[in-house]
Amino acid sequence: MMCHLLLLASLATLAVSVRGWEHASAEYVESTLKEHDVVVVAFVAPSEEKCKSLEPEWVLATPESNVLFLSIDCTEPSHSTICKQHEAPSSWPRIELFEKGEAKATYLGPRRAAAILSWAGRVQRPTLSEVDNGSLNVFKSIDETVFIAYLNDYDESSRTAVSDIAAKFKDEFTFGLTTDVESWAAEQMEAPALKGYKAVDGDTKVFRGPFDVASLESFVKEASRPVIGELSIYNHQRYLDRGWPVVYIFASTERERTELRATLKTMARSYYDSLTMVTADPLEFPSLPAKFGLEPGVFPSGAVHQLSNGNIYPYPRGKPITPRALQSWGLEVWQGRVKPWSPPGATLAPTEMQGDGGAGRVRATRKVSVASFPGMKIKLGRDEL
Ligand SMILES: *[C@@H]1O[C@H](CO)[C@@H](O)[C@H](O)[C@H]1NC(C)=O
Repeated sequence: MMCHLLLLASLATLAVSVRGWEHASAEYVESTLKEHDVVVVAFVAPSEEKCKSLEPEWVLATPESNVLFLSIDCTEPSHSTICKQHEAPSSWPRIELFEKGEAKATYLGPRRAAAILSWAGRVQRPTLSEVDNGSLNVFKSIDETVFIAYLNDYDESSRTAVSDIAAKFKDEFTFGLTTDVESWAAEQMEAPALKGYKAVDGDTKVFRGPFDVASLESFVKEASRPVIGELSIYNHQRYLDRGWPVVYIFASTERERTELRATLKTMARSYYDSLTMVTADPLEFPSLPAKFGLEPGVFPSGAVHQLSNGNIYPYPRGKPITPRALQSWGLEVWQGRVKPWSPPGATLAPTEMQGDGGAGRVRATRKVSVASFPGMKIKLGRDEL
């Protein structure tokens, strides 16, 4: 049995390493967009790093999808028309879902096969789907994060509030609503309630009101946060807004980041409330490692950013990123036995903490307001703050 599994695993690896991009021609993409209701297209420049990192995930995702996945090499001169028509991005790749030939949504999440597939399904569903007891079980796990509202059918105001929230978070999560009393019983819920199902962590969170937009929004923000998140342009500011120390783990490939989330999960779960732990893709957040005192290009690496005082603690280089090593180092940091890192020169203008455009914004913390006195030099050590 074991041998069999190993064989399967190695075959799978082989299949992935042998296969790669199978780009379509511009003509084929054009005609497919006309003939198929839904098509997902990746516009790529194969030699760019982000495209290289997408390749193995795209290869995994393509056969799993119930809609057509196509890729096109936008560095081919003969493809420039179609690539430009669909708004060439400032950097490749651009993944778009087309419905009846029209671009409907652009993918901005992690370049991970399962996440891309979940997104393609999500875009095709209504922002808020009606479910009943019969469809509930499938719907609960239709996406990596699903929220289902259990409401009385006459409860229009709760329904409106849930619709607002569903529209607000439609790029990231799937939302459903049920007024079917049998489904409430099956889930032991009483209306009104909103329940979040997180397939990745295998847990659920329940909110029982009040059903106003602000309360629902803060519930969804917190309940959707995985034990270890994946830093994205959607969640970065949201995670910073929590105000708890952020533990960043940088690794260069999707596979490594997935493995790190898996190995650190049990440990991270016990600090879930008081830390925000994330893995980050250095290709998406290129200027973050340097801001946390990490050597550029050396991965995996990690850092803690204490948002309450702006202190930064780079994880010692060469130390393995294991639950045990990370936890004991974290304890030393917490006990004040590790000196925070100061950027060379240690003059920090307010704008210096703003990273990578919208994607990498690091919110101003207390030290920034100190630094905003013109001409004032500050050190980032704990004593100076
Ligand atoms: C509701 O669905 C659950 C799970 O599919 C099932 O076990 C249960 O019997 C259903 N309830 C009713 C009343 O149909």
